[in-house]
Amino acid sequence: MSRKTPTAYATDLAFIHDAGFGDFAREASAFLIEILRQRGISRGLVVDFGSGSGILAECVSKADYEVLGFDVSRAMIELASKRVPTATFRHESFLDAQLPPCVAVTAIGEIFNYLFDRRNTNARLRGVFRRVHAALRPGGVFVFDVALVGRVPEGIRRGFTAGPDWACLYEACEDPLAHTLERRITSFRKVGEHYRRDAEVHRLRLYRRAPLLADLRAAGFRARTLAGYGATPFPPGYAGFVARKA
Ligand SMILES: C[S@@+](CC[C@H](N)C(=O)[O-])C[C@H]1O[C@@H](n2cnc3c(N)ncnc32)[C@H](O)[C@@H]1O
Repeated sequence: MSRKTPTAYATDLAFIHDAGFGDFAREASAFLIEILRQRGISRGLVVDFGSGSGILAECVSKADYEVLGFDVSRAMIELASKRVPTATFRHESFLDAQLPPCVAVTAIGEIFNYLFDRRNTNARLRGVFRRVHAALRPGGVFVFDVALVGRVPEGIRRGFTAGPDWACLYEACEDPLAHTLERRITSFRKVGEHYRRDAEVHRLRLYRRAPLLADLRAAGFRARTLAGYGATPFPPGYAGFVARKA
């Protein structure tokens, strides 16, 4: 694990992501289930890259699909395994994932942007697209979203989000030349009488829509972009992709 930073969603940020930011994965799950059913695929294996606390795994398991999840955060894997004991979760980078035959592959919540695994490059991602295409059954779908160049056009943004027993503050800084984004996150989580403080720094590389679409098509997919998974549009500087194996 030396290639990875030690701060990939440790215990408190994993808890906070699950408690406060799960609606995005819920909308993505409903979208996925709908497009699978439209294609007459009512069962089979869904592979979830960056499976987080298992929110998508729970939704698609309830809809009768099986789930195999991959995540580099041990804390996330623990939450997911408790939430969906019937699913399989591996503590592995999506770059190392061995893909069994499946009906869908998902990567929800900027998974391909993160540089926790420093080997994450455009060339490696193209290899992942080819492996996903090979693993999907005909008609199967690949659904993911990414942060784009211009995610923080003002250069630097600060904000906070709070729940009943937690809060997190963030500062996001986009480097317009390197096409990277750095998020410094300070979290506070109530443990007993007190709030525990923790901090993580997340580095992301940012994409452009057209080259990603071209890479998906070169891997054999029919691909299009999405403005949102459901009623909630993606924020500016963000895009979703649906790619189908013919
Ligand atoms: C924003 S969270 C999204 C989690 C989940 N998909 C959801 O929507 O709730 C990003 C997740 O991606 C995971 N992640 C980042 N880089 C990864 C990699 N190279 N391989 C697998 N998981 C990764 C993180 O550990 C984290 O759990």
